[in-house]
Amino acid sequence: MSKKAHRFDASDDFVESLGGEHRREMIPVESVLPRMSLGRDDSVLDLGAGAGYFTFPVAGVAREVLAIDIEPKMLSYLRSRLDEPGNDAISLVQGEITALPIADGSVDHVLAAFVYHEVDSQKRLVEECRRVLKPSGRITVIDFQKRFTGHGPPIWVRKRPEHVISTCKGLFALEDRHDAKAYYQLRLRRL
Ligand SMILES: C[S@@+](CC[C@H](N)C(=O)[O-])C[C@H]1O[C@@H](n2cnc3c(N)ncnc32)[C@H](O)[C@@H]1O
Repeated sequence: MSKKAHRFDASDDFVESLGGEHRREMIPVESVLPRMSLGRDDSVLDLGAGAGYFTFPVAGVAREVLAIDIEPKMLSYLRSRLDEPGNDAISLVQGEITALPIADGSVDHVLAAFVYHEVDSQKRLVEECRRVLKPSGRITVIDFQKRFTGHGPPIWVRKRPEHVISTCKGLFALEDRHDAKAYYQLRLRRL
């Protein structure tokens, strides 16, 4: 098997796997959101939004959310929920997160939840995040711990938090780190 990036399989029962009960127990949104330190006026770019596990709750605390994903199936699921109350601040775009179709310096916060391990080039991902962020902008990276966690991708594709911090060196400064059993969450400020 190739040791290149491991892409989430959109043919899975994706709503169940990305929004199911096990996930709510493993990665409670209510503990993730406060660590993002979002302001009411913030615009958030949600990279690889999937079935919107974070997109919808983030839309409840920020001014707007732009959700980007490469998979049409994910986007059509998200689109089917845009009419629900509270979701009018969400916009969707299909695209590649290592070549973002987003203007320079245009967003306050980038959320990279469970996508860092999925791309071919983490360096390009981080550089793109920095490019689209405003000077005071921040990035939140959430991903699986590099150990057996019961769910998630094979251990060999997972990246340690130290990998993220090292890739961000010179571009972002670490502001907050949280290590949970199954995942870690980092918040970094654009330099
Ligand atoms: C593991 S899911 C995570 C979804 C969501 N962030 C969450 O935590 O629930 C990864 C998502 O990223 C998308 N994705 C993976 N690689 C991508 C890329 N290079 N560009 C855009 N989207 C990508 C997949 O289609 C999938 O929806």
